[in-house]
Amino acid sequence: MSRSVTAAAPAKINLQLGVGPVRRDGFHTLATIYQAVDLYDEVTVASSASTTLTVTGDGVDLVDVPEDASNLALRAAQALADRAGVAGTVAMRIRKRIPVAGGMAGGSADAAAALVACDALWDLGTPRAELLALAAELGSDVPFCLVGGTATGSGRGEVVEPLNDVGSYTWVVALPGGGLSTPGVYRELDRLRGQSPVPDPEISEDLVAALRQGDAAGLAGLLANDLQPAALGLRPGLTELLERGLSASASAALLSGSGPTCLFLTRDETHARQVGDALARSGTATLVTRGPVPGAHLLHAL
Ligand code: C5P
Repeated sequence: MSRSVTAAAPAKINLQLGVGPVRRDGFHTLATIYQAVDLYDEVTVASSASTTLTVTGDGVDLVDVPEDASNLALRAAQALADRAGVAGTVAMRIRKRIPVAGGMAGGSADAAAALVACDALWDLGTPRAELLALAAELGSDVPFCLVGGTATGSGRGEVVEPLNDVGSYTWVVALPGGGLSTPGVYRELDRLRGQSPVPDPEISEDLVAALRQGDAAGLAGLLANDLQPAALGLRPGLTELLERGLSASASAALLSGSGPTCLFLTRDETHARQVGDALARSGTATLVTRGPVPGAHLLHAL
């Protein structure tokens, strides 16, 4: 039987998502603070004569997951194989727990896990800097999914600098169902902004200071997502969902990335269960997750 390697990669949330002007390449300049949370997708790869992909989900709607060569995890495997000059055909299995098209970088996590898993399967020992460069070519969030923890992101999000973060935070994730297209949300933001000049975004130093002190209460007033008005415009029901979480005593509420997943900061597990139960009673699926956690890593090689 051929050897198989499994890697896991975490979902990300953005504690700050500052969106600046559109660049010449069509991407937006970002100033973001990422946090990796303990909600993981797993990617298993085994050598095979031809490339195949199987995707399964633990309570996740898979309808928007491409199962052909356009899948970002398969593209990651191919990019690494091309760089290393190996044939690189793999049988890949993705086990999804991260909501699909939910604003938590599930596809990017799969790509990061695929890089780590294939690097081990093919015994490449690719230098970290090269894996990060490959990750950046695959997508703006993929480098952070490799790095994990809490980190700033600049450029289009791909330039990642780890932050000293002593705290641990408990989040309720609300899954309103359906996805939102990331490019669509950015386009809507551009439309809302019209012709008005957009300043370059800056990392919130207050937020960085709160993270350095592990100050969850301080963090609550500083969370910010510039994509929120655009996503709320496209999915008006999200405004009510955010308000329901606050009424249920969440310390703060915001859209996750480009949505439609919403995040609620809580004080601890007990508080998180209270907020999650209240949202669930009004018909929204929720889960509780904690961050920060490390980025993509090997789970096992058999
Ligand atoms: O980099 P990634 O493939 O994840 O980006 C998906 C889409 O999100 C891009 O095609 C673009 O429309 C939008 N985006 C952007 N500016 C960024 C990141 C993403 O406009 N910094």
